[in-house]
Amino acid sequence: MISAVIFDLDGVLVSTDEYHYLAWKQMAKDEGIVFNREINEALRGVSRMDSLDIVLSHAVKEYTLEEKKMLAKKKNEIYVKLIHTLQPKDMLPGAKKTIEALKAAGIKIAIGSSSKNTPAILEQIELTDYFDAIADGNNITKSKPDPEVFLLAAHLLNKTPEECLVIEDAQSGLEAAISAGMLVLGVGSASSSLQATIRAKSLKDISVLDWINQRNR
Ligand code: BG6
Ligand code: MG
Repeated sequence: MISAVIFDLDGVLVSTDEYHYLAWKQMAKDEGIVFNREINEALRGVSRMDSLDIVLSHAVKEYTLEEKKMLAKKKNEIYVKLIHTLQPKDMLPGAKKTIEALKAAGIKIAIGSSSKNTPAILEQIELTDYFDAIADGNNITKSKPDPEVFLLAAHLLNKTPEECLVIEDAQSGLEAAISAGMLVLGVGSASSSLQATIRAKSLKDISVLDWINQRNR
């Protein structure tokens, strides 16, 4: 029986994925490194330092650990400036309605995100108090596709993996959910992935609650 839903944040509840892209693009441009939307797809769901390694794999020079830390810091400063004005109205279509319907039906909900900026973003879009548990980049050691963040979210909810449905927009996130032993709804960039249990272009195109109820019958 599905009795919990774990939401990814960036690209599922709020389109911060576009700001991640713009921040990496700026950092890469300043360093003279090739960066485009195709390379950006590989960064979805992946932690800041792992994302940096992917970006730097397209650079001609080698970077020291100190230089890498500086670049990650710089990218994050650009990103934080970009998300500074996020508001509740910036939530992705269908996100709030989905959360409210699940809560009203007694389904437990959690965040499972690789982002260390999760607490700040949830505050800005006024969603913090809705979640029964938050697992994010601040309390994991291994980023998606490792299942750690989803297993932690399930643990915090006191649920088994079989009781959880994950909602993801990233290939790395789909893989993480699958290796956690959870069902997964692919949205956005993951909406055509055959690895997903179910697919929808966005949360406004599906009733997650209806799907869970049917599945539980
Ligand atoms: C994920 C994003 O949610 O968080 C990635 O999809 C990002 O693109 C990762 O790299 C880490 O985010 P942050 O905010 O800790 O740099
Ligand atoms: Mg995402």
